[in-house]
Amino acid sequence: MTVDLQTQYLGLNLRSPLIASASPLTGELASARLLEQAGAGAIVLPSLFEEEIVEEEVGMTRSLEAGTNAFAEALDYFPAVNTFIGAGDRYLARLEKMKAGLGIPVIASLNANSAGGWVRYAKLIQEAGADALELNLYHVAANPSLDGAAREAADLELIAAVRAAVTIPLAVKVSPFYSAFASFAAQVKQAGADGLVLFNRFYQPDLDLDSLDVVNKVELSRPWELRLPLRWMAILRPQLGKGFSLAATSGIHAGTDAVKGLMAGADVLAIASALLMHGPARLKVIESELVAWMEAREYVSVDQMRSSATSAKVTDPSAFERANYMATLHSWSSPDKLGS
Ligand SMILES: Cc1cc2nc3c(=O)[nH]c(=O)nc-3n(C[C@H](O)[C@H](O)[C@H](O)COP(=O)(O)O)c2cc1C
Repeated sequence: MTVDLQTQYLGLNLRSPLIASASPLTGELASARLLEQAGAGAIVLPSLFEEEIVEEEVGMTRSLEAGTNAFAEALDYFPAVNTFIGAGDRYLARLEKMKAGLGIPVIASLNANSAGGWVRYAKLIQEAGADALELNLYHVAANPSLDGAAREAADLELIAAVRAAVTIPLAVKVSPFYSAFASFAAQVKQAGADGLVLFNRFYQPDLDLDSLDVVNKVELSRPWELRLPLRWMAILRPQLGKGFSLAATSGIHAGTDAVKGLMAGADVLAIASALLMHGPARLKVIESELVAWMEAREYVSVDQMRSSATSAKVTDPSAFERANYMATLHSWSSPDKLGS
């Protein structure tokens, strides 16, 4: 029996639902080729950051102004400025190289916090040939004068601004830290996004107790982290409808994790940590495990299997969630270590 892995994501036809999420592996052509050879349905490039673009534009303005004010032969400065290669240019060049060197769809990623002049980079990314754009929203709501509604409104404004700048498919990658996520997800769809990527992992800082410095060290994920996106896939799939794309990211390390994601309603599984831990070829192993699982249960396609465990049949998902919460707490049985 052959299993059909073909998948539609953001209107793109992918050979498999296993895609390589943004990480250093997707930033270099050599490793991206290995991911393609291992069967990745698509790759997501590492993000271009709003700060990098803004910094570059401020720097360019300063060098222009400095030249104009200081020297009569100011025009001499312009060729130097024209050949100035900043983060944005490097990103576009890398994207073009990836597009030329790979046969699978290449999804670019913009990391942003606010709408602004930098949004035109979305258009440049489209012109450089990206098959889709992932807008990676990453912020910590640490401003006490900005309440939840205002923060969400700012995010939605940003999504609408990027949507207006491009015609290629647009996915939005978000953290789980929203006060009423189902409502926010519906508004993301209304703002024009074609899909959601759940969830961005926040890299929580640690403290070094010797130096008293903040330690920013990336910890790779563990499989249990899939549970959070899994729950939200199951809740959102029926609410957002079949035409809206959902990508699960966080904690997909094995074929069985991929099965869970698909059953909960994910269109694709976006993987980074497992590939960084074991190398790009790990993707092939995860695919083999997924296929073996499907064959053993006589599933012929991922389409057939997808969404078989969503909350569609539950009329009130919030009541369902509360019932589960109660059942989960009651399921705890003491391992007899209370030392009575
Ligand atoms: C070293 C590293 C770099 C990453 N860089 C990016 C990035 O540039 N943009 C982004 O959206 N996500 C980035 N991520 C997040 C991953 O794409 C992925 O969504 C997250 O790690 C959860 O998936 P996982 O459990 O398979 O690692 C990065 C993750 C790691 C570990």
